[in-house]
Amino acid sequence: MPFTRVGKTQVAGLEGQRILLGVSGGIAAYKAAEVLRRLQDEGAQVRVVMTASALHFVGPTTFQALSRQPVRSSLWDEAAEAAMGHIELARWATRILVVPATANVIARLAQGRANDLLSTLCLASEAPLTLAPAMNRVMWAHPATQANVATLVARGVELIGPAEGDQACGEVGAGRLVEPDQIVAALVASARPGRLAGKRVLVSAGPTFEDIDPVRFIGNRSSGKMGFAVAAAARALGAEVTLVAGPVSLATPAGVRRIDVRRAAQMRDAVLGELAGHDVYLGAAAVADYAPARTMPQKIKKSGETMALELVRTADILAEVAAHPQRPALVVGFAAETQDMEAYARDKLQRKGLDMIAANDVARAGQGFECDDNALSVFWHDGRRDIPHGSKPRVARDLMALVADRLEGGK
Ligand code: PMT
Repeated sequence: MPFTRVGKTQVAGLEGQRILLGVSGGIAAYKAAEVLRRLQDEGAQVRVVMTASALHFVGPTTFQALSRQPVRSSLWDEAAEAAMGHIELARWATRILVVPATANVIARLAQGRANDLLSTLCLASEAPLTLAPAMNRVMWAHPATQANVATLVARGVELIGPAEGDQACGEVGAGRLVEPDQIVAALVASARPGRLAGKRVLVSAGPTFEDIDPVRFIGNRSSGKMGFAVAAAARALGAEVTLVAGPVSLATPAGVRRIDVRRAAQMRDAVLGELAGHDVYLGAAAVADYAPARTMPQKIKKSGETMALELVRTADILAEVAAHPQRPALVVGFAAETQDMEAYARDKLQRKGLDMIAANDVARAGQGFECDDNALSVFWHDGRRDIPHGSKPRVARDLMALVADRLEGGK
C-alpha cells in the first residue's frame, strides 16, 4: 500500500483526529515513533501512552519530543493526572491505535483488564480501537492468541497486520509489524474520518424469537455478528448509530446505542419508534416471517401423535420502513438466499421499495449465518458490487463504504 506524504495542496486524511498512540513492549516499539510522525503528517493530533514493558525497549523522550506532549506510562502519576486525568484522556481520543500490540496486550484487552494505564484507557474510551500486532510467529499462531484476536475482532476492534516475513528473533512467518507508512495508510483508508459524521444510522441485527409457550420458541440461526459488525463499521465512519438487537450474546460495539428486543413485533416497534431523524436504515436482522397466533401462558403438555401450531404473518419491518413518512434517505435490506440470489434479491429490492440490498448466499459453507465470515453481493437499481469473502467486520467496512458513496450521491 503506497504512502503519499501530504503536501500543502493535499487534504490530510486524519485532519481533526485525536489519536492516542499506545506503545507496548516489543522489539518493534521503536517503529511507533515513525508511526507518530506519519500520523502527524496526516493532520492528526497525537498523544502517547507507553506500557511499562515498552519503556525497556525505547525511551519516552523520543515520543515526547515528536508529539510535543508529555508521555504517560503510569496510572499513578499524580502530576500527569492533575494535568489531564486518564478519563479525560480516554474522552479526548477519537481513536486509539496500539503499535506494536503484543500478545500480552491483546490478551489483556480481550479480557477487559484494566491493570495498567493503556488497558484502562482502552476500556474507558468509546473511541474505536485499532491494533497493529507484532510478535514471534509461534506466539501469533497460538490458539490462545488467535482466540483473543477473534474476541476483539468480534467486538469491532480493527487489526492492521501482522505482516509475514523475517522476524527480529531470526524466524520467518506471520508476526511482523506492518510498516509504519502502511499502518497509517490503512488507518486513513478504513477510517475516512467524518465520512458519516453528522449522519444517524439505524441497524437491526440478530434473530427474533417467537414464543410458543414459556419454554419453547421459533427462532433462527442468526448470531447477530453481521449486524453488529455493520453497526461498528458505521460508528467507525463517524455516524451516530442505534442498534436494535434480537436475542444474541454479543458485546455492544463501542460508542453504539443498543436496544434489545426479543420478538418480531418488538423489533418493529423499536425500529419504527427510532426511525425519525435517521439517515440510513440497514436491516441485517433475520426477522421471523411467521409467529405463533397465540403464546400459551403455560407449558404445552404432550398429547397425541401430531400437533398443529397456527402461525400468523409478522409485519415486514423493512417494507414498512421504506414506505414510512419518516423514511431514511437510504434504506438497505439484506437477503439471505440459498439459490438464484440475484433474482430473489432484486425482487426484494423492487417489491419492498429499497435503495440497496445486500445479498448473502447462506447455503455456502463458511459464510452467512453464525460463522465469523461472509461475502455479499450488493444490488441497487442500476448497479451491483460484490464484496468478497472476508471477516464480517471487513465485509461490513466495505458495505458501509458503499453506503457512504451512495449517500454522497456517487456510483
Ligand atoms: O447474524 P449472523 O449470524 O451474522 O448472520 C447474518 C445474516 C445471514 C442473518 C445476515 O447477513 C442477513 O442476511 N440478514 C437478513 C436475513 C433475512 O431475514 O433475510 P430475508 O431474505 O428473509 O429478509 C429480507 C429482508 O427483510 C431483511 O433485511 C430482513 O431484515 C427484512 N425483514 C424480513 C422479514 C420481516 N418480517 N421483516 C423484515 O424487516
